[in-house]
Amino acid sequence: MRVLLIGGGGREHALALGLVADPSVEALFAVPGNPGVGEVAVLRDVVPTDPAAVAALAVECGADLVVVGPEAPLVAGVADAVRAKGIPAFGPSAAAAHLEGSKAFAKDVMTAAGVPTARAYSCADAESVGRALDDFGAPYVVKNDGLAAGKGVVVTEDRRVAEEHARACGQVVIEEYLAGPEVSLFVVTDGETAVPLLPAQDFKRVGDDDTGPNTGGMGAYAPLPWAPPGLVDEVMRDIAHPTLAELRRRGTPFAGLLYVGLAITAAGPRVIEFNARFGDPETQAVLALLETPLAGLLHAAATGDLAAHPPLRWRAGAAVTVVVAAEGYPAKPRTGDVIHGAEASGIVHAGTVRRAADGALLSAGGRVLCCTATGSDLAAARDAAYESVRGVELAGSHHRSDIAAAAVAGRITIPG
Ligand code: AMP
Ligand code: GLY
Repeated sequence: MRVLLIGGGGREHALALGLVADPSVEALFAVPGNPGVGEVAVLRDVVPTDPAAVAALAVECGADLVVVGPEAPLVAGVADAVRAKGIPAFGPSAAAAHLEGSKAFAKDVMTAAGVPTARAYSCADAESVGRALDDFGAPYVVKNDGLAAGKGVVVTEDRRVAEEHARACGQVVIEEYLAGPEVSLFVVTDGETAVPLLPAQDFKRVGDDDTGPNTGGMGAYAPLPWAPPGLVDEVMRDIAHPTLAELRRRGTPFAGLLYVGLAITAAGPRVIEFNARFGDPETQAVLALLETPLAGLLHAAATGDLAAHPPLRWRAGAAVTVVVAAEGYPAKPRTGDVIHGAEASGIVHAGTVRRAADGALLSAGGRVLCCTATGSDLAAARDAAYESVRGVELAGSHHRSDIAAAAVAGRITIPG
């Protein structure tokens, strides 16, 4: 089949590698891509958030499947425009992608579906913000009610910081703090049938021991040796299926990747957020373990055929990915630095670009590369991922040194 991939970060490079490894894929096209994606796909030049342009490109490429990576094109209606041309798209409609685009909408769906999540208030003025902060107490959780590329959330003990974030955002959701380890569960769905991938954990704060500001994600690992048995079944039964049923009931079925972000609290799994797409960088770790051909799986979801798809097959062992970030990330990443050592296997490109003059690889974003490795167990995968990081040269770069460390040491516990 001929596949068009929309997006150009580390997640899309990992998706591109997964797609071309599927023997049924004869050609892969990508917009906008990055130099890593460009090694395995034909890069085309259209604006990824322009539904009409992407749909026209899909027709021109003779695409049998369009895979939409990031949230912005989904919310813009790219998957709808592609489907309107009769071409299968992996990714929800703009209406269903609202589940990620609006935190208030997501809360409304969860309430209607009886899905366990943090109690929350939608607030638009200082007075209601103050009441909500009083009700829940510290630590305060204040979320921008709109797309914020994973950066619209402030979790703080400092009341003033919480109030300032609310004021800067305008419309916010303020919610109860959920204590417990976080889990990312990716669910591939055609709207009705739903298939979970391996659970993963990502690391949102920029610094070791979860210090510093939130980022898009500094690393990830899968699967989770500390997860209680039956966790995935429980999340599918109590969260994924009821959510999908509620969206069907509303006439906006969700087909694509339902990303369930959870806290495993003393009272059980609670939803922190839904996303309408693969997570970054969890995708890099999860796909490193997937043996089932990726394009066939996504095509089955895009065509309503998931019930007939064979069960997923996974490599034994574990995978770890570590993000190499630019100096100054996340506040003010410096770009334009030369990168060496990005050719090793397991390294995917996130924010990179080739210099026209000499083809040198340069940093072009905050998260520059993701170094992924698998191993027979989590400790081995972690060692191999850090070995890969040591092979990368990028002036001023930084990375977390504790990705998967607590899990390897058996230090992750569920509050009881
Ligand atoms: P979000 O964009 O909603 O995933 O939030 C980003 C990060 O903020 C999450 O990964 C959590 O680490 C943290 N967070 C969000 N909501 C909560 C909550 N209700 N309780 C505790 N931490 C939260
Ligand atoms: N890893 C978090 C996200 O993709 O939003």
